[in-house]
Amino acid sequence: MIGTNVAYAAQLLRAGDVVAIPTETVYGLAGNGFSEQSVKKIYSVKQRPLSNPLILHVPDRLAIAPLVTEMPDAAVVLLDHFSPGPLTVLLPKSALVPEIITAGLPHVAVRIPKHPIALSLLQAVDFPLAAPSANPFGYISPTKAEHVQEQLGELIPYILDGGMCERGIESTVVGFRDDEVLIHRAGAITPEQISAVWPHVSIVQKKSATAGSPGFYKFHYAPHTPLLLAADIEEASAMADEETAVVSFKTQALRNVKEWICLSNTGSLDEAAQKLFDTLHKLDKLRVRKIIVERFPDYGLGVALNERLERAANRH
Ligand code: TXA
Ligand code: MG
Repeated sequence: MIGTNVAYAAQLLRAGDVVAIPTETVYGLAGNGFSEQSVKKIYSVKQRPLSNPLILHVPDRLAIAPLVTEMPDAAVVLLDHFSPGPLTVLLPKSALVPEIITAGLPHVAVRIPKHPIALSLLQAVDFPLAAPSANPFGYISPTKAEHVQEQLGELIPYILDGGMCERGIESTVVGFRDDEVLIHRAGAITPEQISAVWPHVSIVQKKSATAGSPGFYKFHYAPHTPLLLAADIEEASAMADEETAVVSFKTQALRNVKEWICLSNTGSLDEAAQKLFDTLHKLDKLRVRKIIVERFPDYGLGVALNERLERAANRH
């Protein structure tokens, strides 16, 4: 069932059930973060390995304090600038946080989302919401209630509809070491935005599922249709034929392909990010032989978008 009834969603969550919720990044599959049983439901609905920890969502800064034992200066500065918003901070967990949330790790991931519906739901319950993206493990994240309905609709009692996600790409996950900020997952807050407020920033290179952040799997974010990543629009054109779909960043073209989608006529990475996952969901239904996507420029949001596409392309 899809609807906008926050009170009903809160009631289901209090009863230990899971509910899909809108956030400004992507839709999440939420459960009571203090209830091991609810959290187990999340893992089983998503078919996600228990070794991949979950983000706890809270309504405000006050609600972070009981969940963590330390708050480095860099975390305070980043939260001041980017929360509520698409920033997830990794902080040493307190005893209140169940082991199942962090997959036994010493740090907990915490985020204050910005979507008004997510915030009013978080205010209506008296526990944090554990919420991974509301997609089956390995598939593209949902940016509309319909995406969740198509992928998980049969398995969950309610989808809270908050319209199309404004950002369209997941939050940036950061950790802290000495006075350095470590970007564990590129996301909606860009490396440039972070270094503008905290100068010591580095990106953690993810080479395998076992290195660093446990959520880093080589194959991820992938549609069922084979996805190929083209270095530029010329290469995309050369690879395409009438049985393929092409997704370009800002170039329109009239080539003889099954479908050509240009994400942003004006070359806006914000607009492209908002539309990318929705576009892949649509194209995956067309049953084309392959989807060819043009690489984004390697700065700003392009960093996170390219990272998702590289892993989607790895599946095949
Ligand atoms: O934008 C988002 O972050 C969305 C919305 C729903 O908030 N959520 C999301 O969750 O993308 P998920 O589970 O799909 O991705 C969370 C990432 C994973 O790569 C996970 O491994 C990492 O954060 N993560 C979570 N807890 C962690 C921890 N304790 N230590 C290291 N990495 C962690
Ligand atoms: Mg995810």
